[in-house]
Amino acid sequence: MAEPASLHVPPLRAMTIAAVRRELSHAFRSAGLDSPELDARLLVGHALGLDHTALVVVADRPLDESQAITLAALAARRLAREPVARIVGSKEFWGLNLRIADATLVPRPETETVVEAALAAIDDGGSRTRSLRVADLGTGSGALLLALLSELPNAVGVGTDVSLPALQTARASAKELGLGSRAMFVNCDFGKALAGDFDLVVSNPPYIVSGEIAALPEEVRHDPRLALDGGADGLVCYRTIAADAGRLIGLAGHFVVELGYGQDAAVAALMKAAGLEPMRARADLAGIPRALTARVATMPP
Ligand SMILES: C[S@@+](CC[C@H](N)C(=O)[O-])C[C@H]1O[C@@H](n2cnc3c(N)ncnc32)[C@H](O)[C@@H]1O
Repeated sequence: MAEPASLHVPPLRAMTIAAVRRELSHAFRSAGLDSPELDARLLVGHALGLDHTALVVVADRPLDESQAITLAALAARRLAREPVARIVGSKEFWGLNLRIADATLVPRPETETVVEAALAAIDDGGSRTRSLRVADLGTGSGALLLALLSELPNAVGVGTDVSLPALQTARASAKELGLGSRAMFVNCDFGKALAGDFDLVVSNPPYIVSGEIAALPEEVRHDPRLALDGGADGLVCYRTIAADAGRLIGLAGHFVVELGYGQDAAVAALMKAAGLEPMRARADLAGIPRALTARVATMPP
């Protein structure tokens, strides 16, 4: 049977860089990818080792044979719905370039809402330059921890994960970003191996209902199952984390978690059951409640 036209990688040999970008954008758009121009730019830049500005400067230069072969292979992976971040091995989050490996979730833009909520909680308590202790439970690529350390110059932090390869990836990113001396990584079950008091505990736990994973878009299914699977009701990891949160933040700290779609009321309820006092959820750019902040509940007078 003939391959569908939308999955063909166009011939790229002897084309200029500008023409290759146009051809790939067209192929990606025809295949129904969401951001064809951006994907084409990132893959061409990766294949040639050039950033955005350099790609513009050398736009009229033709591709050589080996570059054309490399790029055709990368484009074929993208047409097969592999996310660009996995193909190039990195993803920008909060303006930081993070490494991505098979064991790490690709950090999502909406997770930046957790960073915003955490920084708002810190700002309420004083200057960002004070000494602070931060923990990120289920750190994956290190996205939340490294974003926070980049904003809090005198903070130290720990990221935990049950995946050793994820921790190795996060540690490598911390070093590359010059944050390695302030970031520690611990292989454990969420907060179990940690001792308080943290000023801030953040987490973006796995929160997809197990039975819904098979129906997720193909690109999401490239993420490790360990990073997605939130159990029968999607809330299993929240229960584990909330049970430890009070011990970790003490009376003065804040706890901030990412919320899956429609989970705000359920997560607030389980936080209350764990002795925490949830505040109003912060919405992401699509208006969806995405980050819930809580403190230890104080007894009524
Ligand atoms: C949704 S991903 C979040 C990754 C990263 N924090 C982010 O926001 O992009 C959840 C992470 O939790 C980790 N994880 C799953 N179960 C865990 C457990 N019991 N203890 C610690 N980490 C766990 C996964 O390996 C994965 O890295």
